Amino acid sequence: MSVELQSVPRAAGGIPLLGHALKLWRDPLGFLRSLRDTGDLVEVRLGTMPVYIATSAELIHEVTVNQARCFEKGRLFERLRPLAGNGLATANGDVHRRHRRLIQPMFHPQRITAYAEIMSANAQALVESWEPGQEVELEQVMAEYAIETLASTLFSLDIGLPAVEAVRRNLPVILKNMLVRAASPKFLDRLPIRANRDFDTAAATLRTVIDEVVATTRETGPSDRNDLLTVLLAARDSETGESLTDTEVRDELSTILFAGAETTASALAWTFHELARHPEVEQRLVAEIKEVAGDRPVTIKDVPRLLTVRRVLDEVIRLHGVTLLMRRSTAPVELGGHRLPAGTEVAFSLYAMHRDPGLYHNPDRFDPDRWLPERRATLARQAYIPFGAGNRKCIGDAFVWTEATIALATILARWQLRPVPGHMPREVASAVAHPDRVPMIVLPRDA
Ligand code: HEM
Repeated sequence: MSVELQSVPRAAGGIPLLGHALKLWRDPLGFLRSLRDTGDLVEVRLGTMPVYIATSAELIHEVTVNQARCFEKGRLFERLRPLAGNGLATANGDVHRRHRRLIQPMFHPQRITAYAEIMSANAQALVESWEPGQEVELEQVMAEYAIETLASTLFSLDIGLPAVEAVRRNLPVILKNMLVRAASPKFLDRLPIRANRDFDTAAATLRTVIDEVVATTRETGPSDRNDLLTVLLAARDSETGESLTDTEVRDELSTILFAGAETTASALAWTFHELARHPEVEQRLVAEIKEVAGDRPVTIKDVPRLLTVRRVLDEVIRLHGVTLLMRRSTAPVELGGHRLPAGTEVAFSLYAMHRDPGLYHNPDRFDPDRWLPERRATLARQAYIPFGAGNRKCIGDAFVWTEATIALATILARWQLRPVPGHMPREVASAVAHPDRVPMIVLPRDA
């Protein structure tokens, strides 16, 4: 039998007006992890607004898959509108379905094969640019690699160079302020504080630059380029024959940039951090890469054979995943024995779920072997969904596996990355739990 929402336990430590917003600002990851001790469904207040956090794999599956029909994206994504407009991640209903149909072909395996050449060329250029003994800020290097790779597959570099530059400068500012903004009461957006100014300026700059790229490409007319921009401009809806407006095209490009850049960069930076702390795992990876690719550049054909690389990436993405996602019910639903009226905000943290001791043995331990087939088979169903599930599942998962595998294999074959003493990377909550800084020294592999 289901009961009303009032009986959902509320998280401890809320205060008038701000609710749990302070807790979310101060220690979002710790706070989100703590909620499972309160229950499977927990009420949290963002300002005065109640949000119901699903903490168990079963309830997250209900929201994302079984009852997905009764949910739209909700508040978190609405607060991203200044940045992502009505792009794929924020759109709801028919608009989402139509755009997903139009964009999906860009992530077809044949396309990924073509992108793999760009990924490999970018990774080669990166390893060529390093000098023995050089100190690098790896999280920044990886952010540049991810942004450049995305931008060159989305826009083609010849016309998109100003956009790539603008993205490189502005996206980190936006991502830094995004979660705080989304979790805060709306009246705080208007406060004339630095975080708000920086967010607004960076989002506006990004919009302007991408608008210019879209307009220039539209003016120059049809081309034989195969980038996403060209495909989006030429796309026609199979039912209505309508094409996308320039604003819709811009929103899709911005969405893919914000959804695909930080997530990938963070996974790569954490991987090198973990490998430096687990030299025995690094040795296994290097041996595998040598066996599969020898001394030639790594290609798309090698990707499915680099199984240890895959397990390491699985483990990194489990440990440092997507911080917070939200939905809003569009009809009355039942969740965890409670009746939720239409318009209820529901949230969940993949980061917290992937560190649940009820699902994972020693959840904070870096242990890529937990992804060996025989151990993976013992994991609870629905326990590992780093790319989400259901109709809103990540469109870029095959893209990022290819990109991250190629980058890792290319770099590890040539260089050993060792931490600069004196700094231990800290998790900072943004779209994902990304590292604050990963300063590293690059040493030739053969030395
Ligand atoms: C390690 C890297 C990545 C992770 C962990 C990740 C994770 C996710 C997750 C969890 C979702 C679902 C959000 C929800 O349910 O509300 C999502 C959606 C999405 N992701 Fe990713 N992602 C990654 C890389 C990428 C890349 C490289 C791209 C683009 C090239 C991308 C584009 C998107 C888009 C457009 C959506 C919205 C899909 C829709 O609603 O139809 N992501 N991602």
